[in-house]
Amino acid sequence: VTEISIRGPDFSYAALVGSGLLGSIGSSLARNRSPGRCAIISDEVVGPLFGQQVGDSLTQSDFKPVLITIPPGENSKSFEEAARICDQMAAGGLDRDSLVVAVGGGVVGDLAGFIAAIYHRGLPYVHVPTTLLAQVDSSIGGKTAVNTPRGKNLIGALHHPALVLSDIDTLATLPPRSFKQGFAEIIKHAVICDAEMLEKVAQASSLRPDNDAGKRALQSLIERNIEIKAAFISADVRELTDQRVLLNFGHTVGHAIELAGGYARFLHGEAVSLGIAAACEISVRKAGLSEAEHARIIHALEACDLPTRLPMDFPRDRILNAVEHDKKFRGGEVKFVVTPAIGSAHVATNVTMDDIRRAVEKL
Ligand SMILES: NC(=O)c1ccc[n+]([C@@H]2O[C@H](COP(=O)([O-])OP(=O)(O)OC[C@H]3O[C@@H](n4cnc5c(N)ncnc54)[C@H](O)[C@@H]3O)[C@@H](O)[C@H]2O)c1
Ligand SMILES: [Zn+2]
Repeated sequence: VTEISIRGPDFSYAALVGSGLLGSIGSSLARNRSPGRCAIISDEVVGPLFGQQVGDSLTQSDFKPVLITIPPGENSKSFEEAARICDQMAAGGLDRDSLVVAVGGGVVGDLAGFIAAIYHRGLPYVHVPTTLLAQVDSSIGGKTAVNTPRGKNLIGALHHPALVLSDIDTLATLPPRSFKQGFAEIIKHAVICDAEMLEKVAQASSLRPDNDAGKRALQSLIERNIEIKAAFISADVRELTDQRVLLNFGHTVGHAIELAGGYARFLHGEAVSLGIAAACEISVRKAGLSEAEHARIIHALEACDLPTRLPMDFPRDRILNAVEHDKKFRGGEVKFVVTPAIGSAHVATNVTMDDIRRAVEKL
């Protein structure tokens, strides 16, 4: 088990990465807090897989867990679902001394984190991310959210977990498409600050959760990504400087593609992969990225079986509308992140809507 500490001006917590962590979650928690009631929040796919194991371990350490499950999928990240869960927590006797344990992917993590931020004006929570995307990205950083019909992640709070427990074993049951999309965020981290990691990812086929060698390689990759994300957020947790914004590399166009596809056509990581392809195209013209490095990034995405071209019939105009809308929402400013060379990034001031249009047309 590796422990990575994540610190900032007003937060400090540990992320544990390893095998077999679920079975000892109770004792890991009991080290730092006295046992009490807790809500295990999960979804209807993940709950049956790991809920019992987490619940048993907590019970053995004298916690009193209540398991609450939600339907899987982005639609559950809503106010309505949050209200239902809060109600179940109240019915289960959870009070201000209770704890929230989120077991699942980014949807469960964002929603349970949001509930932990508002229930009794804030409870501590523990993240048990069970998707690659959540282990390398969403479980770190304290962003919690629900969606409204007018916008994804529109409502939320910055609320840091008390502990993150990333158990590599949980990844073995992930459907292949879900597993692969996690690599988009890994490639994003590589492009913005770790050129060496890009080479490792290009051999993605050896990074599998179903054998010991694969697990070891995957574990070290996950650890590195947690360190990277931790470094960015520690320096700028509230996006006050451009530091945390760099983590949005590939996301301006990526988010627009997700929206244009009705959140059904592409998974988040797949849309980000396309967004990275567009951001690289723009980086060649506006930041001096070499054609050779551009090709290496595209190759890494393709080696992970991630999309770099849109289907012919995809409504490209909707992507541009979404970028425009986002721009208005952000006070007329698009903070477009570019890379001048693999391993570095900055916020460009010279990227126009026309540049974005050209890049989207090329996808
Ligand atoms: N807070 C942040 O900083 C941040 C960052 C990136 C993404 N996000 C959010 O994360 C969400 C996407 O996360 P995600 O891709 O993990 O999606 P997800 O939580 O929907 O999980 C994907 C699917 O995999 C299933 N699943 C999860 N773990 C499994 C396992 N071990 N075995 C089998 N099936 C499993 C889930 O039931 C679900 O159907 C989005 O809502 C996005 O906005 C948040
Ligand atoms: Zn992302």
